[in-house]
Amino acid sequence: MRYTPEQEKKYFQLSQIFLHNNIDKNDIERLREVIRYHEWKYYIQDNPVITDYDYDVLFDKLKKLEKKHPELITPDSPTQRVSSDLVSDFATVSHLTPMLSLENTYDENGLKDFDEQVKKLAELDINEKLEYSVEPKYDGLTVALVYENNYLIRGATRGNGITGDDITPNIKAIYSIPLKAAFSKFGIYKAEIRGEALISKKKFKEINEQRQEDGLPLFANPRNAAAGSLRMKDPEEVRKRGLFVISYQITYAVDDNGNDKLQQFGTHLNSMHFLNDLGFRTPREDIKTCEGIKEAIEYCEAMENRRDELPFEIDGMVIKVNSFDIHNKCGSTMHHPRWAVAFKFKAQQAISTLERVEFQVGRFGTITPVAKITPVQLAGATIQSVTLHNEEFIKSKDLRIGDKVLVERAGEVIPYIVKTMPELRTGIEIPVTFPQFCPVNDTESKVPLEKNIDEAAWYCKNCTCGQVNLQKLIFHVSKDGMNIDGFGEAYVRRFWELKWVKDFSDIYDLDFALISQLDGFGTKSVENLQIAIEKAKKNPIWRVLHSLSIKHLGKKASKLIAEHVSTIWDLRNWDEEKFTGIKDIGPSLANSVIAWFEDEKNISVLKKMEELGVNTVQTKEDRPVEIVENAVFKDKTILFTGTLHQMKRKEAQELAAKAGAKNLSAVSKHLDILVVGEKAGSKLKKAQQIGTIDIMTEQEFLNKIKEAGLL
Ligand code: IVH
Repeated sequence: MRYTPEQEKKYFQLSQIFLHNNIDKNDIERLREVIRYHEWKYYIQDNPVITDYDYDVLFDKLKKLEKKHPELITPDSPTQRVSSDLVSDFATVSHLTPMLSLENTYDENGLKDFDEQVKKLAELDINEKLEYSVEPKYDGLTVALVYENNYLIRGATRGNGITGDDITPNIKAIYSIPLKAAFSKFGIYKAEIRGEALISKKKFKEINEQRQEDGLPLFANPRNAAAGSLRMKDPEEVRKRGLFVISYQITYAVDDNGNDKLQQFGTHLNSMHFLNDLGFRTPREDIKTCEGIKEAIEYCEAMENRRDELPFEIDGMVIKVNSFDIHNKCGSTMHHPRWAVAFKFKAQQAISTLERVEFQVGRFGTITPVAKITPVQLAGATIQSVTLHNEEFIKSKDLRIGDKVLVERAGEVIPYIVKTMPELRTGIEIPVTFPQFCPVNDTESKVPLEKNIDEAAWYCKNCTCGQVNLQKLIFHVSKDGMNIDGFGEAYVRRFWELKWVKDFSDIYDLDFALISQLDGFGTKSVENLQIAIEKAKKNPIWRVLHSLSIKHLGKKASKLIAEHVSTIWDLRNWDEEKFTGIKDIGPSLANSVIAWFEDEKNISVLKKMEELGVNTVQTKEDRPVEIVENAVFKDKTILFTGTLHQMKRKEAQELAAKAGAKNLSAVSKHLDILVVGEKAGSKLKKAQQIGTIDIMTEQEFLNKIKEAGLL
């Protein structure tokens, strides 16, 4: 290691000072030292201690100081080189051209400055509208792919930008990379393509779920999962990880005499079309040509709002001048091209302190450790509780009370602890100890926690304090359960303490006159509660099933089962085979439902619920949609956007499904029909851009439905 713990502490503290204060030229060398330290943490140790945003702020401060005092620039300043050394087990190879970074901007003004700068460099009229190609900034790992004579001959990581690791066998296990591509059609003998290796959010979740089951440490985010995957020794394992690469640049293309062949494409967009035609995955529908910087800014902002809808993580947008001629006029610095800039989205990482760990008992008796951290603002929310999953997770992160922790919240993903920072410990931090007994039951007769073979979780299997039951009740009334509007956790706890609710049936047998005498309950709120409970009694049976908290029985499986029964009671006669006959239902789920229905205590609660009016027979919502014969939208995909006036969106979707259509949630070239209501926004714009989508009004949609006799 190059830095002592004392130095690490010093540089971390200095960075905080430099981040929040003006820096004068006398501090320039110390600022460089701080930046070098963070580069080492990031590139060499793969273990950054500040957020990317803060690093950029420091780097920017250095650049500004050097601009003001060019006489103070040193050849070894972080601004004067691409990046630093590298440690690795893989063979090192040189990139055909240096792998640069991008200059970062964080707001409209940054982009306007960039636009001005490009026009100056290219000697263009300042009022001219420059054509930009704008695409996502993918949050993965950069890879460089070399093709010779149409064959993929090498795949490498970014490394330090000049040399990287040769990971060819792993690269070949990624399907979105063609092993052979017809470069020669365009007279190209040798080429280098750059792209980003990614793992989808869905796959990331699956990998972590599997890892949790296998008792392995979890990946903090899809980027780390992709990084870990690219460095695996077995390409077959890489293949299973389902990585893909989105290619976004041709950096080198020559014929067999070494003459340049890149300029023939003329624009970035053309080069992307070319790559796509050769079989590469490119930004495709997410790339947009913008006339002038204003349009580019609008697109960046629109994409920031859509960020969560994308199947993979992006951390910003890249704005590239479209014309290659202008690229050549602008040139590059040692660090970045001057014809492109990144627009970084708002920070989603923050550093906080682990104050304590709470151990919560879940509805299946699972013990979940939850970190209580000093509240921090993150992507528009205050975060103070973060799940720690299980004991293994705490161990793998070596978490200690008092530790500084890096917290991340990406999109709709729940916040998580990326890592702790042991280098900042003062020595008074206390290791987290996992309880051996139920953390709630504090009586003499403590209940020891148990583990299932091959599972990471600890369970309280013989709950005597009622906590498990309470959690089941809380889930029962929640949005995912019976969805009883206004019946929150606080109500459940209060009624539970008063012993008014002990099992599910009590929820449908509440004495509203008594409730209205409680502090904080007005006539109106009691009335609303009563209405919400009455409404919930009419729920489809998939909801009833799901809200019973039967182990392994999730929402999807509840719906699948509800499709196949006429009343809930049918399940009393179902055997394993009957359950597993339904696609996607496995034996453990089957046996768990069977066991639940064999328990007379459960049956008597369910019977009471039924007597109190809770629906137990299959409803229209439980039945699979029957596609009518005259299906006007047969095999079409459809999406509704904007406010509809003649029906609710859900009704419209049901009608569309009946008429044979498949409802999609996003606009892409796979969409056939977009129905636009009032105030339709970005989706309409995007559909118009794609050009092949049939755009209809709510009335036109209804006319078609009526033609089909569905209304
Ligand atoms: S173009 C730097 N396009 O972001 C030369 N880069 O922070 C031009 N990145 O090192 C790169 N998405 O690895 C480009 N659509 C995109 C990108 C992208 C992600 C990465 C790239 C670069 C880093 C800069």
